[in-house]
Amino acid sequence: MASQSGKFSPPSEIFDEMAKKYENGIGGAQNDIIKALLAHADEVCPIDSSSIIHDNACGPAVVTNEILSRGITPAPRIFATDYAHGMIDITNSYKDRRGWDTVVVQYMDGQALSFEDEKFTHSISSLGVFMFPDDDKGLSEMLRTLKPGGWVGVSSWKDVRWPAAAMAAYEKLFPDAKEPMILPIPKNWMDAETCKNNLLRAGFHDVKAEVITCVNRQSSKEVGGSAFAGFLRQVSPTVRGWDDETREEYMAYYSKLVEDMFSPSVRGDGVELKLYAIVTSGRK
Ligand SMILES: C[S@@+](CC[C@H](N)C(=O)[O-])C[C@H]1O[C@@H](n2cnc3c(N)ncnc32)[C@H](O)[C@@H]1O
Repeated sequence: MASQSGKFSPPSEIFDEMAKKYENGIGGAQNDIIKALLAHADEVCPIDSSSIIHDNACGPAVVTNEILSRGITPAPRIFATDYAHGMIDITNSYKDRRGWDTVVVQYMDGQALSFEDEKFTHSISSLGVFMFPDDDKGLSEMLRTLKPGGWVGVSSWKDVRWPAAAMAAYEKLFPDAKEPMILPIPKNWMDAETCKNNLLRAGFHDVKAEVITCVNRQSSKEVGGSAFAGFLRQVSPTVRGWDDETREEYMAYYSKLVEDMFSPSVRGDGVELKLYAIVTSGRK
């Protein structure tokens, strides 16, 4: 079995397609991650009314929403940016519907931020910068735009579970494949020590990294399997390249493997799947 070498980062059109389904597909795990990340900030550099925050690669405003739900009065200023128009549209609709007057939403590539130097007190990229094609550039832009003494927080996946099922299905259906299955798994963000070193190398200090457990909650295992299948269809160029028959045969097998990973929810209201993320934070 060939293994994937090099980094594959999905282009913005893929995140455009994914935007509407993203929040449900990950089943709330993204909020668990942000709560853990913000707990790091609470210890050393708490967010308050005077904070100026960057929600970098905001997706559907996940960090922004979590911060504003804390009810800080007056609300801090937040700049939410992303390079997928679908995500920006959703974030703008939340801003309008929820009356987020202190939030500025902008379409922007995290590898070339148009903000001035030393603008932010807090620079946050949850499940964002680790996926950029040039993650080092993304981090250096976060450093540049952070005030001296400011706080940086990023997160990444240690084990998001579905890649193991994707590989198992690939090995089962294509045992003699010469080509690796291409998946967007940035390998240099998968353990706490490496994540810590990524931020230290970028020039941050007082860096700490922690593995956390988060939970993907779904109403049924079929709903969970279908969400992960839809995601894989979009992000894997290997899957996108197959003819319909091959793709559907693979997807049926993969969905079943994913469904079997879910177990009944401890709350008794559906099913859940534990995922493992890494939250990493530091100071400028
Ligand atoms: C997995 S989602 C994370 C969204 C959100 N921050 C969260 O915590 O759930 C990754 C996001 O990164 C965005 N993204 C990926 N590469 C980017 C880049 N180079 N510049 C800006 N945004 C990017 C995608 O459009 C997508 O919204």
